[in-house]
Amino acid sequence: MANLKGTAGTVRRAVVCGTGAYLPANVVTNEALSKRVETSDEWIVARTGIRQRHIAAEDERTSDLATEAARRALAHAGLGPENIDLVIVATTTPDNTFPATATAVQAKLGMNGRGFAFDVQAVCSGFVYAMSIADNFIRVGQIETALVIGAETFTRILDWQDRTTCVLFGDGAGAVVLRAEEVAADTGRGILSCHLHSDGRYKDALFVTGGPGSNREVGVVRMNGQEVFRHAVVKLAEVVEEALGANKLTGADVDWLVPHQANQRIIDGMAKKLGLGPEHVVSTVARHANTSAASIPLALAEAAGDGRIKQGQIVLLEAIGGGLTWGASVIRW
Ligand code: ACO
Repeated sequence: MANLKGTAGTVRRAVVCGTGAYLPANVVTNEALSKRVETSDEWIVARTGIRQRHIAAEDERTSDLATEAARRALAHAGLGPENIDLVIVATTTPDNTFPATATAVQAKLGMNGRGFAFDVQAVCSGFVYAMSIADNFIRVGQIETALVIGAETFTRILDWQDRTTCVLFGDGAGAVVLRAEEVAADTGRGILSCHLHSDGRYKDALFVTGGPGSNREVGVVRMNGQEVFRHAVVKLAEVVEEALGANKLTGADVDWLVPHQANQRIIDGMAKKLGLGPEHVVSTVARHANTSAASIPLALAEAAGDGRIKQGQIVLLEAIGGGLTWGASVIRW
C-alpha cells in the first residue's frame, strides 16, 4: 500500500513500540525426538537447520502463550491493557473453533471489554497478514494502538507417526505493540508497506486433514515438503522484490532480514538473493523449529530485545505458509 501523505510531508504510520516473546519450558532436542520417531539429529540438521523445539505443557493453551508474550510486549512498550484498541492473534491452533483466541487474550490481559479482538488464519504467513491488517486500521485512523500476536501450539496438530512433518514444528508466541504516530514521510519510523498474496490452487501442498465444516475433527498436518520448498524459493523472492521496489529500496538497504523460520536452507537462499551476510539475518530456526505464525514475532522479540535491531533500521519480514499464502513487509524500526 502506498504511503498516505499527510500535511507538510508527514504521514500517519504504525510504529513498533514494544516486542515480547514466550516459549514453553519443555525443550525437546532432535536426539530426544529420535527415540520416539525414526529419524536422526544429522538428517534434521542437514535438511532444516533445526536442533530443538519447545513443546507446550498439557495445560497450556495457545491463549496462555499469546497472553504471556503480549504482557511482555506491553511491558517493553511501557503501556498497559487500558491503552490497547485492537488485539489480533494470528494462529492455526486456536484454543477452540470459536470464539477467537484473541478474545480469550483480551480477557486474560484484563482489557475489561475495551477495544476489539479477532483471529487471523493464514498459517505461517499469519503474522505478516495480521501486521498488514493492524497497519491499515492505524493508517485510516480507526485505532491508535494494536497488539499483534503470533501464537501456536502447533505440535497439537502433528501426526507423530509421520516423520516427514513431526520433526519440523514447535510451539511458542511472539507479540508486537503498534502505535500510531505522525512521522516524516521520507525518514519517519513505522511500517512502510505490506504485500500479501495467496493462491488456493496449491491448498493440497500443505493442509490439515480435519475441520469443523468437513469432518468435525481437528485433523493433522500433511505436507508435500518438496512442493512447498519449490514455491517458497520463487514466491518469497518475488514478494521481497515487490516490497523493496515499492519503497525504492534494494537488498543493500536492508539492515535485518527477519524471515519466517521454517528451514535454514530457505533462509540462506533468500539472504543470498538479497546479497545479505548472516550478520544481517535473524535466525532462530535451530532453537525454535517452525512455530508457524509465531516464528517472526519470536525472532523480532529476540533481536529487538538483545539490541541487534536498532531504531531507524530497515527490517524486512517475509513468510510463506499453507493456502498457499505469502507476504512481506518493510518496517523502519
Ligand atoms: N528423518 C529421516 N529421514 C526422513 C525424515 C526424517 N524426519 N523425513 C523424511 N525422511 C526421508 C524420506 O523418507 C526420504 O527417504 P527416501 O529417499 O528413502 O524416500 C528422504 O528422507 C528425503 O525426503 P524428502 O522429503 O525428499 O526430503 P527433503 O530434502 O525435501 O526435505 C523438508 C524435506 C525438510 C520437509 C523440505 O522439503 C522442506 O523444508 N520443505 C519446505 C517446508 C516449508 O518451508 N514449510 C513452510 C511452510 S510450513 C506451514 O505453513 C505450516
